[in-house]
Amino acid sequence: MNVVLGVCGSISAYRAADLARELIRLGHTVRCCLTDAAQRFVTPLMFEILTEQPCLTDVFTEPETGQIAHIDWAKAADLIIIAPATANTINQLAHGIGEDMLTTLVLAAACPIVIAPAMHPEMYRNALGSVRTLAERGATIVEPTEGDVASGETGQGKLAPILDIAAVADAILQRRCSLVGKRVLITSGPTQEPIDDVRYLTNRSSGKMGAALAQAALWMGADVTVVAGPQSAPLPRAATVVPVRTAQEMLAACQSVSADLVIAAAAVADYRPAHPMAGKIRRSSDALSIELIPNPDIIATLAKGNPTATYVAFAAEPSPDLAVARDKMTRKGVHAIAVNDISNPAIGFESDQNQLTVLFADGREAHSEVTSKLSIALWLLDLVTWPTP
Ligand SMILES: Cc1cc2nc3c(=O)[nH]c(=O)nc-3n(C[C@H](O)[C@H](O)[C@H](O)COP(=O)(O)O)c2cc1C
Repeated sequence: MNVVLGVCGSISAYRAADLARELIRLGHTVRCCLTDAAQRFVTPLMFEILTEQPCLTDVFTEPETGQIAHIDWAKAADLIIIAPATANTINQLAHGIGEDMLTTLVLAAACPIVIAPAMHPEMYRNALGSVRTLAERGATIVEPTEGDVASGETGQGKLAPILDIAAVADAILQRRCSLVGKRVLITSGPTQEPIDDVRYLTNRSSGKMGAALAQAALWMGADVTVVAGPQSAPLPRAATVVPVRTAQEMLAACQSVSADLVIAAAAVADYRPAHPMAGKIRRSSDALSIELIPNPDIIATLAKGNPTATYVAFAAEPSPDLAVARDKMTRKGVHAIAVNDISNPAIGFESDQNQLTVLFADGREAHSEVTSKLSIALWLLDLVTWPTP
């Protein structure tokens, strides 16, 4: 696969040479793009020799006559890695600025982007807003590690280990294309079930897992629709998003989507108030009872309606006992159920991390590590997808 490696003006720019070599060792074609500041630390010649490819340095200096390198390289790239990424380049990218070859090339690219920041810890703290913006837009951030930085101070700012950056990049590249031509439907976030016109029943789902699944499925080439409750986590813009509020709306929206794979990551309210009141329930000294009636089981209804698709349910379980989840899987008629143990505060709702046990209807069982929701999403999609013909 074609990788563009962007190198910025950091003291750790020399480490990009090892990254280029590791990516080549993994079988990828690597072409490098150096910022002006990067060339104060390392030379284009070094990368040209290592990669046996021309190096890009300037928007107006074309390596091939008659070509427009920033467009051609962006189109040909399966992945762009920026390592080390400086505060300056990160801030420019977050604001859509294309002032040099690297930032212009990224502006022209549609492929996944991996960003490995390296800088003084205070600079990193100041750049965090831009880092978050880029992550929300779908870039994969390989976080800098804690340790001693060039100024002699200690903190988070050291370029992540080269092998980690290469492994993240390689994982994204390996998975690319495995869902090309497939339609993936993901439900995400909480539902809100009205009690009256101002109050509702809901839950703590942030929608981060649904957003991660959508991003991962897009990277794998799928056509992704997300039917999303009112969630706080932003969804990737390349997905078709159908916003809904209640479980009934979620079911109706899902029924109007044709899908090959359905992943029900939404935390749907099991019950809703039987008689939501128009207006506002007034305070009184009397006790108030609200009658709750069951909501439809969305994935079970979908699985019954179109048995040709693959269905993966999610179950948030307050105990690690898998018997309950196995019963749920059978009752819902799904192919697999992904269980998270919500008694562990380090994972699940609102957390950036998760850990899943996946039970399959055919008896298989798989356990993930505690890791980022994006890594879990890639892992889960790998488990439940089929080989491309
Ligand atoms: C010795 C030295 C080391 C530097 N190291 C870093 C660094 O690790 N990270 C960073 O964000 N900026 C670092 N800078 C500052 C950048 O080189 C500077 O902001 C430059 O404009 C970045 O340009 P670029 O983003 O186009 O590469 C360093 C500067 C010097 C002089």
